[in-house]
Amino acid sequence: MYRTHTCNELRLADAGKTVTLAGWAGTIRDKGGLLWIDLRDRYGITQLVFDENYTAPELFDIARSVGREFVLQATGTVIERASKTTKIPTGDIEIKVEEIKILNKAKTPPFTIQDDTDGGDELRMKYRYLDLRRQAVQQNIIFRSNLAIETRKYLAGQGFAEIETPFLIKSTPEGARDFVVPSRMNQGQFYALPQSPQTFKQILMVAGFDKYFQIVKCFRDEDLRADRQPEFTQIDCEMSFVHQEDILNTFEGLTKYLFRTILGLDLPDFPRMSYDEAMQRFGSDKPDLRFGMEFTDLSTAAKGKGFQVFDSAETVLAINAHGCAEYTRKQVDELTEWVKRPQIGARGLVYVRYNTDGSIKSSVDKFYSPDDLKGWLDTCGAQPGDLLLVLCGETDATRKQLSELRLEMGNRLGLRKPGDFKPLWVVDFPLLEWDEEAGRFFAMHHPFTSPKQADIPKMESADHATLKGIRADAYDLVLNGVEIGGGSIRIHDRDLQSRNFRLLGFTPEEAEAQFGFLLGAFEYGAPPHGGIAFGFDRLAAVMNGANSIRDFIAFPKNNQGRDMMIDAPDAIKQEQLDELGVRLVSK
Ligand code: AMO
Repeated sequence: MYRTHTCNELRLADAGKTVTLAGWAGTIRDKGGLLWIDLRDRYGITQLVFDENYTAPELFDIARSVGREFVLQATGTVIERASKTTKIPTGDIEIKVEEIKILNKAKTPPFTIQDDTDGGDELRMKYRYLDLRRQAVQQNIIFRSNLAIETRKYLAGQGFAEIETPFLIKSTPEGARDFVVPSRMNQGQFYALPQSPQTFKQILMVAGFDKYFQIVKCFRDEDLRADRQPEFTQIDCEMSFVHQEDILNTFEGLTKYLFRTILGLDLPDFPRMSYDEAMQRFGSDKPDLRFGMEFTDLSTAAKGKGFQVFDSAETVLAINAHGCAEYTRKQVDELTEWVKRPQIGARGLVYVRYNTDGSIKSSVDKFYSPDDLKGWLDTCGAQPGDLLLVLCGETDATRKQLSELRLEMGNRLGLRKPGDFKPLWVVDFPLLEWDEEAGRFFAMHHPFTSPKQADIPKMESADHATLKGIRADAYDLVLNGVEIGGGSIRIHDRDLQSRNFRLLGFTPEEAEAQFGFLLGAFEYGAPPHGGIAFGFDRLAAVMNGANSIRDFIAFPKNNQGRDMMIDAPDAIKQEQLDELGVRLVSK
């Protein structure tokens, strides 16, 4: 037996017991006649003590030869510590070592294995196995494991069957680029890795499985950010004979269950908001509801007073930064620079300062009387001490910019509190999204999403505005400003599906070539169905108040899509290329 206990188990009540522990050497303190080693495993830390008053000299010699991250096995007696610590649960005791074995030596690690490590990002990714040894990172991965286990428990309890779908498939249209795999047996042809199991789960409904789920890897070749990885995990689900309401209830249930069992938190019922309302009030389809600072439309009030910038703008929008009237000129200038950065892209920022003495000062005093400005402040519900921040321009762009500024102000004012969870269903998404560059409509969710029954006749229209106005039975689950999941009721009628493909610019031949299997299946009795997929990595991160999903993925890729530990992607041998029939052409 390698060990009798883990490194987080022993307490004062165990004093006097003989125990054997195994783990890695952390901090080592050598005070001459006394030497301590922190022994660490997945569960915690226990202190080993060597004292020349009672430790045999040969044991002391072994202890002295131990370096950081050596793998040790120690047997000894649990004793009460002279200087106790409350920092660790085993802080009342230590182990008086009677036997020690070095199970393996270790090179000095390139960074210290501690919660606050001195290792930079690149180094930690290269030595991910050492990074994963750090308790903070390990806890995240264990959290993720618990989340998966509880998800399975809940969904199994609701009658869902876990069914695997293939990874070597052909392109699924979720809007990102595919990763492709050349086929040796079918030279010149390629598999695509699934961007999601979308078409397969719909086929499973046609097959009659009724309730499907899978915790599944998805692959998308897109630009990476803190909340995006090229391979990520979904809790992917589909149900038959359901309306949108049934799906929202089931997955609100899952979310509440996960919060309750894992975080011990009871979430109240999730509010719902239409896409249009979310865009109007927050300029975003994933508003962070932990704070207000809603948009006010000042277009009518601000236009027609000779201020050219506003007069020529489609929209003038404001947010009220509560208590920020004291911002110095420098702070306002800094905010102006912030919104003018290319990532945000605003042309400028107008402010109206409502001083605590009731006086008003703005950056547009030349154009507006104090009464005009007081009107704006009142419309925005501002109080003395507040600061209005105003942006203008084309409606969609201005909303996006002001939404970013709102989040930034939320950060600066400490309004996005970790531990505060504000879920939201955003519903009634548009079916279509116009892409100016491509000069055509794209599906806002994906091409299998059903338009709302009442809007189906609009699909025949040639008018852009009418088409843009078609609503879909599509919904997103948003949590603290992060899109945690998205789904829709699907089209289950072949004719409607063909009509939708037509709207999306597919010729019947293209639709048949790409989705013939699905359209074919729809002719054999497809039940009404719908589903949703949660971003599993995102859910884990948001539940922990973390921004980056990387911390919740055991082996993530960096921003260049590289795995630094195994050094992938990499070139492959000429023989392998020949076998695949792939010829590299240098550009
Ligand atoms: P969607 O494309 O909205 O829907 O994806 C569902 C959820 O997956 C997460 N997600 C990601 N997480 C990490 N890295 C990425 N690159 C990434 N891309 C997406 C998000 C998102 O909400 N088949 C449909 C679902 C359905 O209709 O049932 C789908 O994949 O949290």
